[in-house]
Amino acid sequence: MEITLKVYRFNPKKDDKPHFDKYKLELREDAVLLDALNEIKWKFDGSLSYRRSCRHGICGSCAVKLNGKNVLACKTPLKEAIEDFGEVLIVEPLSKNREKIIKDLVIDKKDFWDKNKKVKPYLIANIDEHPEKENLVKPEEVEALENADYCIACGCCFYACESIRANKDFLGPQALAKTYRFSADGRDEAKKERLEFVDKLGIGVWDCVKCQACIEVCPKGVDPFTKITHLHNQIFEEGVAKKNVAAKHAEGFVHSIKKHGILDEGMLVLYSEGINVARHLPEAMEMLKKGKIKFPWNMPKSEGVEEIKKLVEISQTHELKG
Ligand code: SF4
Ligand code: SF4
Ligand code: FES
Repeated sequence: MEITLKVYRFNPKKDDKPHFDKYKLELREDAVLLDALNEIKWKFDGSLSYRRSCRHGICGSCAVKLNGKNVLACKTPLKEAIEDFGEVLIVEPLSKNREKIIKDLVIDKKDFWDKNKKVKPYLIANIDEHPEKENLVKPEEVEALENADYCIACGCCFYACESIRANKDFLGPQALAKTYRFSADGRDEAKKERLEFVDKLGIGVWDCVKCQACIEVCPKGVDPFTKITHLHNQIFEEGVAKKNVAAKHAEGFVHSIKKHGILDEGMLVLYSEGINVARHLPEAMEMLKKGKIKFPWNMPKSEGVEEIKKLVEISQTHELKG
């Protein structure tokens, strides 16, 4: 199989700016992207830098961007990549932020590891150091983790997350999925502290914008976004939720759906912000002009609103505390 690869090249110690080198390679039909990078390094240009170790989708080190999508090089068959992206494959580092590039496809992932460390990614429990028998976990307890324990810390989700791009303090999908991995583990004794930490505005679950890019790129099916929604629930169930704007927004949403069967956008802002709603006056005027804000006397109701109310009440697991 003949393939054309354009590879990002940049050595910040020598180069003024990055460029792409183009390679035409002859590879086996079942070759993966890592084979192509190895072929370049071993036969064409030994100076190409990229990370790899296990070649089996376990170590997470070979993550790169392929035609704009974050992937593991060792788990990406070239044949499928050509079907998805066309004849020319473009390989770039996970982040092209100049400060992060160490060389070519190798980046400094300190920001990723710092967030991972912040959520204490290990079991916190008073475990007997010399047990006489195994500390067995039941199959249903493993199922409750919903593959959160499959994370190999590759960073594909972290460097695809739009919220992190906008807010450097946001913990991001991997650290939040890792929080769930332990908050859902019956043996862990720090559930409440973990939830209190990720409930914080500006860094935690409420700053996810629900774009779902993290689901799309995760090579292990961890689905960080769904874990974040589980953390929302746990935060309410454990009585951790404060009456902050984010929690009140979630409550206001439920309140509106129960009352009207549809979302009352104006009341949602009022419900979430309380007296601080005044600072949104300019936006409110624009919303009013566009018919997005309804007054109580002309707010429409969905057909079957009573049934919707019952469905919400059946599925509701908590009341906001504090
Ligand atoms: S769903 Fe949330 S955590 Fe996942 S990539 Fe989007 S903003 Fe980031
Ligand atoms: S959640 Fe998935 S994409 Fe994110 S670091 Fe873990 S394995 Fe990689
Ligand atoms: S080389 Fe280990 S995950 Fe690809």
